[in-house]
Amino acid sequence: MKIIRTIAEMNQLSKQENASLGLVPTMGYLHEGHLSLVREARGANTAVVVSIFVNPIQFSPDEDFDAYPRDLNRDLKILAEERTDIVFVPSAEEMFPREYASWVEVTSLINRLEEAFRPGHFRGVTTVVAKLFNIIRPAKAYFGQKDIQQASIIKKMVADLNMNIEIMIIPTVREDDGLAMSSRNSYLSPAERRAATVLFKALTLARKMKQGGEQDANNLRQQMSSLIQKEPLAHIDYVSIADADTLEELFLLDKNALAILAVRIGKTRLIDNMLLE
Ligand code: PAF
Repeated sequence: MKIIRTIAEMNQLSKQENASLGLVPTMGYLHEGHLSLVREARGANTAVVVSIFVNPIQFSPDEDFDAYPRDLNRDLKILAEERTDIVFVPSAEEMFPREYASWVEVTSLINRLEEAFRPGHFRGVTTVVAKLFNIIRPAKAYFGQKDIQQASIIKKMVADLNMNIEIMIIPTVREDDGLAMSSRNSYLSPAERRAATVLFKALTLARKMKQGGEQDANNLRQQMSSLIQKEPLAHIDYVSIADADTLEELFLLDKNALAILAVRIGKTRLIDNMLLE
């Protein structure tokens, strides 16, 4: 496994590789969700690159950039066990030097859900992902369904800017009790960890209601919200029933619909979603 720490070296390597590279962009502190992306990439590309970079420009000043969990040695060990070919670990100084002044911004799909609570977050994500795409030049890039708005925005960026990269969205990996895997789960105390299962319970309730013939999206939102409100440690940021393609809020369940949630459990903000097929 090659560990690459500079942009020049990564550029050089991606030029040499006449292979098709599969990129898994991450912020590290890897879990099974990331590894499912690595495994998908390994089966479909001649070499797999995992980037590890806690991207400062996607955190606002009041968010958890400093506290975000980091353990590079552990991540490298896990990636070696997964037979990863290349790990790209750039420095913040090289990615965003003091004179840095360019941004990539997708203006549709961002005016709601996460963006309403994390203004500027997606502009930070699309900018760093565009940079990683330019540096690594992958044929395919892998993102988790858990961050569905992020994945949809990146797809849109790739289409609008004619980037010749296939965006693969891979199903969410869950703990046995349904909690979606996330690096931020490590912040949860044991009581909060138990409370966090309420997200999956609310999503499965929505799916059951839809499968039972419910057509009114408002009823789903209401039932999900009242279930979450019964959990004293949970505070809702949003409960959405949205069109799976446009992420616009639905009123009638006559299209492919997604239930999407952001809920704070104590100080930890968790997101999750489920297709209501
Ligand atoms: O999903 C993440 O971990 C990050 O938003 C990403 C895509 C690696 C960009 O920093």
